[in-house]
Amino acid sequence: MTRSVVRGIGSALPRRIMKNAEFEKLVDTTDEWIVQRTGIRQRHIASEDETTASLGEAAARAALDSAGLTPADIDMIILATSTPNNTFPATAVEIQERLGMSGGFAFDMQAVCSGFVYAITTADLYIRGGQAKRMLVIGSETFSRILDWNDRTTCVLFGDGAGAVVLEAEDGEAALEQRGVIASSLRSDGSQRDKLYVDGGPSTTCTVGHLRMQGREVFKHAVGMITDVIEDVFDKAGITAEDIDWFVPHQANRRIIDASAKKLGIAEEKVVVTVDLHGNTSAASVPLALSVAVERGQIKKGDLVLLEAMGGGFTWGAVLVRW
Ligand code: UT7
Repeated sequence: MTRSVVRGIGSALPRRIMKNAEFEKLVDTTDEWIVQRTGIRQRHIASEDETTASLGEAAARAALDSAGLTPADIDMIILATSTPNNTFPATAVEIQERLGMSGGFAFDMQAVCSGFVYAITTADLYIRGGQAKRMLVIGSETFSRILDWNDRTTCVLFGDGAGAVVLEAEDGEAALEQRGVIASSLRSDGSQRDKLYVDGGPSTTCTVGHLRMQGREVFKHAVGMITDVIEDVFDKAGITAEDIDWFVPHQANRRIIDASAKKLGIAEEKVVVTVDLHGNTSAASVPLALSVAVERGQIKKGDLVLLEAMGGGFTWGAVLVRW
């Protein structure tokens, strides 16, 4: 029996910080509206020389450093992203090359904001199936490149960044008291895909397109979907909200985070919030928040950590990890 244990974590952010006030010059909005409705105060925006691959590489190197490993120790990379450097090849192989890896294999995973939760679940299965021993699971995004900067209903919400973890195979079955990935639950519903999508693509418009969202509609479904998969994970692991040490939700909107925690009965002081600093960084949001929580000294070895995300598709999912 094998289980997957988190060995290291790291993150990377673009140099440029964009505060809410800057949007007042671009669209009809105010700092007050953005803070009140979303909790966002600032986000990082990639410059021309910063890409999903370069941010992903930087986060991966930071995760390797924290694990005391080198790229040669890694045999697999999954990159969760919806903003790849190119339509193909996978940006994960570019990161593989940037890291100087000559072995192993790498691929991208596309589940929009749920990408990292999907990727961790997939990575865990590769490890438990004996297909990989040490892997990098990365979430990296440059959503600034697909935003319509004239659309106030979306452009104020998103930011760029990357986060990565090193997962390692360890002998022993996954169990609540052991370190490692314990349980996960994934869902999608393609009938809702017009609520949050990009209006372009290689096979349809031959363009990249721009992000479109019916924000209120997404909001309406968010808390129900989030709590649904979390309750499934609680059932699988045989725990309740009280057993959780840290809740690391997708960072899209402070109001969604607070409402989900309240509905689940997770105490406020256990909720990791970084949406104020990063905005919504899609697949990078959960690993970025994890990385910040570890840096802040919140999440420590042995803590029971609940990850959750939801986004375009709709896709949604939750993962329980003993850190
Ligand atoms: O990561 C994937 C998941 N995505 C999400 O979780 C996003 C989910 N949705 C949300 O977070 C929220 O729905 C938003 C933050 C997008 C919007 O907040 P809301 O409280 O649902 O506002 P609303 O869409 O109902 O809009 C309220 C008003 C509207 O004006 P009227 O129709 O009441 O006159 C909007 O036009 O706010 C207006 N508005 C803005 N005003 C100033 C929309 N965007 C802005 C803006 N600045 N940037």
